[in-house]
Amino acid sequence: MDIDIILSQVEEEIKNINSPEGLEQFRLKYLGRKGVVAQLTSTIPTLPNQEKAVFGQKVNALKGKILSLLKEKQGAVVSGKGVSQEPYVDIGMPGIAQEIGHLHPLTQITEEICSIFNRIGFSIVEGPEIETEQNNFTGLNIPLEHPSREAFDTFYLKDYPKMLLRSHTSPVQVRAMKTHKPPLAIVVPGKVYRPDAVDASHSFMFHQVEGFMVDKGIQFSDLKGILELFARTIFNSDIKMRFRPHFFPFTEPSAEVDISCIICKGKGCSVCGRKGWLEILGAGMIHPNVFKHVGIDSGKYTGFAFGMGVERIAMLKYGINDIRLFFENDVRFLRQF
Ligand code: DAH
Repeated sequence: MDIDIILSQVEEEIKNINSPEGLEQFRLKYLGRKGVVAQLTSTIPTLPNQEKAVFGQKVNALKGKILSLLKEKQGAVVSGKGVSQEPYVDIGMPGIAQEIGHLHPLTQITEEICSIFNRIGFSIVEGPEIETEQNNFTGLNIPLEHPSREAFDTFYLKDYPKMLLRSHTSPVQVRAMKTHKPPLAIVVPGKVYRPDAVDASHSFMFHQVEGFMVDKGIQFSDLKGILELFARTIFNSDIKMRFRPHFFPFTEPSAEVDISCIICKGKGCSVCGRKGWLEILGAGMIHPNVFKHVGIDSGKYTGFAFGMGVERIAMLKYGINDIRLFFENDVRFLRQF
């Protein structure tokens, strides 16, 4: 074989190599144990004596050339210079930063509400989202004929024993009072469900925080003081508060609680419907029938309870006008919190 032809073939081949693997294949092909150079060397003894020396020198020169080409190319492949197609790792390049998420605004507000009560001695307790009819209604003194028990106001799961998706967090009052003796001061955050058509102010799933306190001598004034502290902490310190008489089966007396509108400061605007007041929660003194159901002596103990919608508090606090924004997972909305 003509060594000059081999040499030009070698020079052509090495140009197209651009990976360490390709380079190794090239090395084996020419310098391996059964490679081209070895084969050429093995033919020397068969040559006529006068040609041996010249041919041997040519083979040596070829080997030297291949080695120097290899060395040169190795440097290029490792540093990446002159190698176009093959990716290589540039350890000096800045990394791709991971986006760091944060808590959902509803989680943030829930934690804020609970921590205000927690700081003044309330424990935080959770209950199941699948409840019995007993805990969701009967134990809370909600009579059999009450409209909230209708299938269009509650998601029923199973008939006997009747199981449902809780429609409020109040059943955790029943659970906690059955298993723990007073004094009790508890807040209950969680999801609740109602078969409402979804619109700007309704969702079939939303969040509530329930709260209650039971001990000897608890009075309506305790409820007023604690709720006022709560509202002034979560909104601002100069809001006014009012209690409007209302009806809930599980409290007597009951009230709906309003704060002076945080937008217009009570003057009347579109957010408060020109009333100057915003309803934020329901509350009252725990009904003796609720105590009776859980075996607490209502002659000895009294207590208050309240319940609020987390979405409503968040919407008022941040001026959000559509509840659906909380559940659409649009990062343009979520990033603002
Ligand atoms: N459970 C009521 C609801 O979902 C809210 C509520 C009102 C809870 C008055 C209370 C209360 O504990 O005393 O509409």
